[in-house]
Formats: sequence, structure tokens, C-alpha cells
Amino acid sequence: MPTITVTFIQRDGSEVVIDDAVTGISLMETARTKDVDGIIGECGGSCACATCHVYVEPDWQAVLGEPDVLEEMTLEGVSHIVQDNSRLGCQVLLSEAMDGLRVVVAPPQ
Ligand code: FES
Repeated sequence: MPTITVTFIQRDGSEVVIDDAVTGISLMETARTKDVDGIIGECGGSCACATCHVYVEPDWQAVLGEPDVLEEMTLEGVSHIVQDNSRLGCQVLLSEAMDGLRVVVAPPQ
């Protein structure tokens, strides 16, 4: 599978640049392989925990699209920190169109 570059901005403001992110793999799993701080993935990617919550930088929102109904429901559980650009990393499968993607790790729940 092709690889792309994805950047996570951690809670302390530091950036983790992953330049070998594999397409077809979720944003959450990609973060976990590089120990991105704050991306836990407690439910294993089944859209149940929101410990993979990120804010998508505005330029990338259209590329990633909107959350589906199940993702919206899980985000409601952390509604106090949800923004218009919130996504759950486990529900975003990387594609070549996402090369250069930048996301911010959301605050703790
Ligand atoms: S890993 Fe649990 S909702 Fe994404």
C-alpha cells in the first residue's frame, strides 16, 4: 500500500510527523504505532470510546468528510469538547488524498 505523511499536533503543542503512514490503515492505528500522546484507542477501533478524538485542521475537513451516524453518537459522549472539526481517528481510513494531513489531538475527556 502507498504511504503518505500525516502530522499529529499533541496536547503540549509538539508535532509528530509520520512520513510512512500506510493508506488503508486508520488514523488511530497510525498514531498508536508512533506513540502519539493522547491517542489511546481504548475500544480497539470499534467507535465506542472516543479516546482517538482529533480535531481536523480546516483545510482537510472536506477531504475527510463528515462523521457517520455511529461516529456522531460516540462523539455525543464527549460533547463538552466536540468541535465542528471533530473526528474519531479510528473511523478515518487513510487514503492518498490525505497526504499532508494535519490533526490536533483533542483534550482529555
Ligand atoms: S478507538 Fe475507540 S472510538 Fe476510536
